[in-house]
Amino acid sequence: MIVLETCALPIDSEDDVVRVRTRVRDLAQRLGFDAFAVAAISTAASELTRNAWVHGHGGTATVEEVEEGGRHGVRLQFHDAGPGIADLPRVLKGGFSTRRSLGLGLSGTRRLVDDFEIESQCGVGTHIVVAKWARFGART
Ligand SMILES: Nc1ncnc2c1ncn2[C@@H]1O[C@H](COP(=O)(O)OP(=O)(O)O)[C@@H](O)[C@H]1O
Ligand SMILES: [Mg+2]
Repeated sequence: MIVLETCALPIDSEDDVVRVRTRVRDLAQRLGFDAFAVAAISTAASELTRNAWVHGHGGTATVEEVEEGGRHGVRLQFHDAGPGIADLPRVLKGGFSTRRSLGLGLSGTRRLVDDFEIESQCGVGTHIVVAKWARFGART
């Protein structure tokens, strides 16, 4: 995988949710993602930024344009040094929240992207990497 462009954005206020989402939407549109794919990766961006802000006490979002095997994609990395996720399998199943919300952010995000990796350690923090790829023939 080649990283063509990378941009690190701080997550330290509620406003950063919209900032990260907008950046991701613009990149996905520039890469020729269809409307559904633009919405999917933008939604993933806002859910994961919001989680890093609300649950992880803030951190960083890295927005990258990547290329692999002639396909272009958007890769997003989220780092926080928050409390970590104690029961990851339960959270990934969906419907579990420590904030009395729906708890569908992480499980839903997973279904919206092509690649999804999560590493979380209690007391250390959480690192999430997701990617979504443009279909072949998309403008790049
Ligand atoms: N970055 C994070 N750091 C710590 N805990 C997290 C993080 N992201 C998610 N979680 C935990 O996983 C639960 C489920 O997350 P999510 O599916 O996005 O639902 P919600 O944010 O609505 O609670 C959260 O309630 C929280 O306990
Ligand atoms: Mg959430």
